[in-house]
Parts: sequence; C-alpha cells; structure tokens
Amino acid sequence: MSLKFLESENMQNENIMNRTFASFVNKENIGQNLTLIGWLEDFRDMGKIGFITLRDMTGNFQGVLAGEILSNFREIPRQSVIMVIGSIQDTRAASFQTEVKVQSVKLLSRAVNPLPIDPTGRVKSSMDKRLDSRALDLRDHHISSIFKIRSLVLNLIRNFLCSRMFVEVNTPKIIGSATEGGADLFGFEYFSKKAYLAQSPQLYKEQLTLALERVFEISSYFRAEPSHTVRHLSEFVSVDLEAAFLDYGEIMDIVQDLVISIINDLFAHREKDMALFYNKQEIKIDRIPRISYEKCLEDLKGLSEKLEFGDDLSDPALKKLGEIYPSFYFIVDWPTKLKPFYILEHEKKSELSRSFDLQYGNLEIVSGGTREHDVQRLRNKLVEKGLDPKSFSDHLQTFEWGMPPHSGFGLGFDRFMMIITNSTNIREVVLYPRDTDRLTP
Ligand code: 4AD
Ligand code: MG
Repeated sequence: MSLKFLESENMQNENIMNRTFASFVNKENIGQNLTLIGWLEDFRDMGKIGFITLRDMTGNFQGVLAGEILSNFREIPRQSVIMVIGSIQDTRAASFQTEVKVQSVKLLSRAVNPLPIDPTGRVKSSMDKRLDSRALDLRDHHISSIFKIRSLVLNLIRNFLCSRMFVEVNTPKIIGSATEGGADLFGFEYFSKKAYLAQSPQLYKEQLTLALERVFEISSYFRAEPSHTVRHLSEFVSVDLEAAFLDYGEIMDIVQDLVISIINDLFAHREKDMALFYNKQEIKIDRIPRISYEKCLEDLKGLSEKLEFGDDLSDPALKKLGEIYPSFYFIVDWPTKLKPFYILEHEKKSELSRSFDLQYGNLEIVSGGTREHDVQRLRNKLVEKGLDPKSFSDHLQTFEWGMPPHSGFGLGFDRFMMIITNSTNIREVVLYPRDTDRLTP
C-alpha cells in the first residue's frame, strides 16, 4: 500500500507531540478536530462504514471511517501504529463517551501479520511463547497493568521507608566473596580474579548502619538455584533494609506496617486496577500474627506432617501450614542451625535464633532477624557454618569500628507482587525472567 496515499497534505507536518491521549477526550471536545495516535486493536468493517479501536498508553478510543479512507484502511494490519485526525462526535457505543470521525489516517509503523502472539489476549498463548515475545505481550491491558502497579508499589515502598528515616543506598553487585554462604553463587572471571554476583546486600547493609543507622536498597540479586518452581528465579528483585538499635520485633512491626499500608492504599485508591486482579478486597489485614517455629511443628503434627526440631519446613509442610494460615503470618524464632551465620541466637536458648520469615500461605516473602554484632562470636559462627573468616576479613574489621546492634530484612519484591496481582507464577510479574532455561530475550 502506498503510504503517500494515506497522507493528507495538512498531515505532512503534523507534530506528533500535539496529539491528544485517548482517555483525555470527553464530551467537551465534541466538534473539535483532534489528532490521536495508537495501535490498531480492532477493525470492524461493515461495508459502507468501518469502526476502529485504537489503543494508547491511557486507554482505547473509537474511530469511524467511511469512503476512500475506509477502502484504503482495509490494507492496514492490526497492531500497526496509526495517527488519525478527525472531529470528535457523540457515539452510540456503550463503552465510549465520544468517537472520532476520521478525516485522515497516517500509517506510522506497520505490524507484521500474523504476529507471534495475540496481544489482545483473546487467543491465549503459553507462558513460554508470551515470554519469547514479551514486549508484545505487554500490549495486553491486564499484563501491562501488572507492571504499572509494580512501578507504583516501588514508589509506595520508597515513600514509606523514607518517611521512617531510612536512606536509600546502592551497594555493589560484583563482589569478592559469598554474602549468604551456600552453593547458589554465580561466579565469573573478573580481570584474572574470581568474582561473584551478589546474592543479597547483606554484608554491606549491615556495615552501613555504623554510619547511616537506617538504610534500604531495592535491587536485583542473583542466585544459582537450580529450582524449577513458580516462585524462584536466578535474578530477582529484593527490598532490603537494615536498622541500627532495633530488634527483630521492631523490624517485624515495620514489615507489618509496610505491607498493610501498601495493600490498603492500593485497594482504597487504585480500585479500578485492583479489580483486574481481585473481585473484591480479598486481602484484609489489620495485623500480622507471629507464630513460633515450634508452634508450626505442633500444628503440623496435628496434620500428620511429622517434623523434628531443627528440620526445615519442607514444601509439603509449608503447603499444609498455608491451609491453616492462608494470608500473611510471621514464623518467628527459627532454629539457629537453619539460619545464616549473621543471625543472632537467643541469649538463654542458643538453639533458637532471633529470626523471622513473613509467609503468605505457603509462599515465603521476607526473611529477617537481629544480627550478631560481636565480632568474636561472628567469627565463630562463620567457622561453625563451614565458612572461612579470612574471606570475610573486610567485613569483620568493620565490627571493630563501633558497630551498633542492628536488625533487618530482605523482602522478595517479585513474590510480593505475585500476591498484589494475584499471580500464581513469578514470571507473570517479572518483565524478562531469568531461570535455569531462559536467558533471552
Ligand atoms: O530469604 P533470603 O535468602 O534472605 C536474605 O537474602 C537475607 N539477606 C535477608 C535478611 O535481611 N535477613 O531472601 C530474601 C527474600 C526471600 O524471602 C524471598 O522472598 C526472596 O528474597 N527470594 C527469591 N525470590 C525469587 N527467586 C529467588 N531465587 C529468591 N531467593 C530469595
Ligand atoms: Mg529466607
């Protein structure tokens, strides 16, 4: 099709920036000539007259075409980018307030036909096919809404933490030794030295409390976890926080206030978006119960899931706990041996640690606790956990510079977004997920 044919003379110099967004057009614009730009979502050809639905970042609008414009229009594939100029008029369409009587059309970018997936969501594609064409997948309103809400939640978290005197920091992601211990480290060669991708900002955020007192970081972290699950990725975003002079109980208060304020805020002020994910306000919380690890073992015994003290809560065990506690709950005071070297033990019961996880049903969202701040005990802890204190010497020396008692947490942001958007697979809420099988796009 000749593009020129579609261009009316007055359109040649049309400034795209003068366009009006779909959702800003209302009855007050009736009679005005406006320029609108969008993707051709739908074209209904009735013969003498045709209706188009164009979509821009704010919503959809309807255009009415007739005559020569309509005959030329038949050649434009759906999902192409189009600029239309026309006069705004009343409409009989139930889903629009007004429509555009199209006077000229300009094809700005032609889409191939067929596209690899149907971005209107009418024809469903598998998760793998969708992720292969992720940029296109996002044209689905439901899917793009997930990422708009994700952006909003990040802002809400920042505002909440800043209002509590936390300072946002950025720590390195290329590091020289394991932060969390364990085997799930990605290693690589770094100018003839061995380096790793950070599993968490744990050591840095602890060190920063000795000058800044309260810090938080929102960033991607990396775990070489060969898990094929709907809740693990090799690259995930975590909201990490660390505070001097607070104990794990006070940190749980912060987690509770943060989670409640965000969820209530979203349901109160973003009703329309949240209605895409939930029928009504299905998550209602005013406080988050704190249940000890030992109470969890008792609960599980009643459900014939027998675990000994010191056993980790397995997937089947968490599933059963999730049936008893389907919403948010803390599991507190985990066995010391199940928690990393930096977690403080209870003074009179060293087999228990001052630690917690925040769960949502069977899904772990947060891990946190009070940290060991005595350098000698920390050294011993490293050895007990099979780690070499020499590889932590930079970290350990900071504990001799007036390290305050401190506590903190790491919140799996992608998992939190699963709950907010009622998604069952973490890949739904991450733009370009990385797992054992996926490294592209
Ligand atoms: O429980 P984790 O390993 O705890 C830490 O990283 C500690 N440094 C936190 C602290 O301050 N004590 O990770 C924190 C959270 C988990 O609860 C989980 O929600 C999320 O990060 N997470 C993952 N999310 C997606 N994919 C993975 N592979 C994840 N690993 C952890
Ligand atoms: Mg954890």
